Amino acid sequence: MATIFSGMQPTGELHLGNYLGALRQWVELGRSGEHEGIYCVVDCHAFTAPYDAKTFPSRVFETALTFLAGGLADQDATVFVQSDVPEHMELAWYLSCVAPMGELGRMTQFKEKSEQHKTAVNAGLFTYPILMAADILLYKATLVPVGHDQIQHLEFARDCARHFNHRFGKEVFPEPKPHPLTLRIRGTDGNEKMSKSRGNAIGLLEPEAAIWKKLKGAFTDPERTTRDKPGRPEICNIFTMHGAVTPAEKVKQIDADCRSAAIGCGDCKKMLAESLEVELVPIRARAAELRAHPERVTTALAEGAAKCRTIAQKTMVEVKDAAGVRGSKSKP
Ligand code: AMP
Ligand code: TRP
Repeated sequence: MATIFSGMQPTGELHLGNYLGALRQWVELGRSGEHEGIYCVVDCHAFTAPYDAKTFPSRVFETALTFLAGGLADQDATVFVQSDVPEHMELAWYLSCVAPMGELGRMTQFKEKSEQHKTAVNAGLFTYPILMAADILLYKATLVPVGHDQIQHLEFARDCARHFNHRFGKEVFPEPKPHPLTLRIRGTDGNEKMSKSRGNAIGLLEPEAAIWKKLKGAFTDPERTTRDKPGRPEICNIFTMHGAVTPAEKVKQIDADCRSAAIGCGDCKKMLAESLEVELVPIRARAAELRAHPERVTTALAEGAAKCRTIAQKTMVEVKDAAGVRGSKSKP
């Protein structure tokens, strides 16, 4: 059975972009029953940027809770926290010795982040893709659902696998393939990307009234300045979200009614709020249940980590074996 692996940084409560653009796709991929799904809260990747160590544990917990509430709890999927499996860091070292330095320097995300954190560019930010490659290769995952901004990192992971196999003449790692996640949710302010740090996000677990307040003020088609002007659904973020949560027949109708100005943006948003409620009610209920029983989250994570450690240790034996690393068992 092919293994799917993906990860997300512990941002805390996820937003609709994270859910519709990533988490829900993970859940859908798992539904086929054809894959083994492993999903990781990548806390060690978060170390590359400054954060508050006091609130960090609650962010990790909240992210894991949201993974489970978002649908992974109903599946056989494995959910765990990266720092619980130290082999990620161990493999990252071995991979760093086969990883081409030049390629690391070409990573768009590194260029952007080092520009953002000019005064605090650390080596971890530079080697971030190596740890990501280790995450994936440790489980010999072959399918990796990622957004387009992570495709370059995934190609890098493939290179790491190829270089390692080639250097030691053994097929230790299969080459992971991306499963591109193409849905992009824009912020309520019309910004290219909904994101918590930009303050333009709708939280996945926010109550109905709070979501409605944000939707009401959300950016639509900037040229539709009056109710009687026809709209352009293809450029409207509200319509993008309809595409994700509203039944197809109704989406078609909304498309037509927006173009003919039969409905206004307010009507369209009302219908979106209704569709979102259908989608979010069970998620909110599962989240409340988990919040009332936090030990369920902790147990799921502990079980996930135990399972992952077993796989990870087995891979590390193969890695060291291929590389001739025997430690104290080295013989003349
Ligand atoms: P981030 O927290 O930005 O690293 O995102 C975590 C995951 O959510 C990644 O797989 C992203 O591709 C996805 N994601 C984040 N923001 C959005 C968005 N606005 N629209 C769609 N997907 C998103
Ligand atoms: N770098 C990814 C992101 O920022 C998160 C991540 C870490 C990941 N390790 C991974 C994604 C392994 C897929 C597979 O979104």
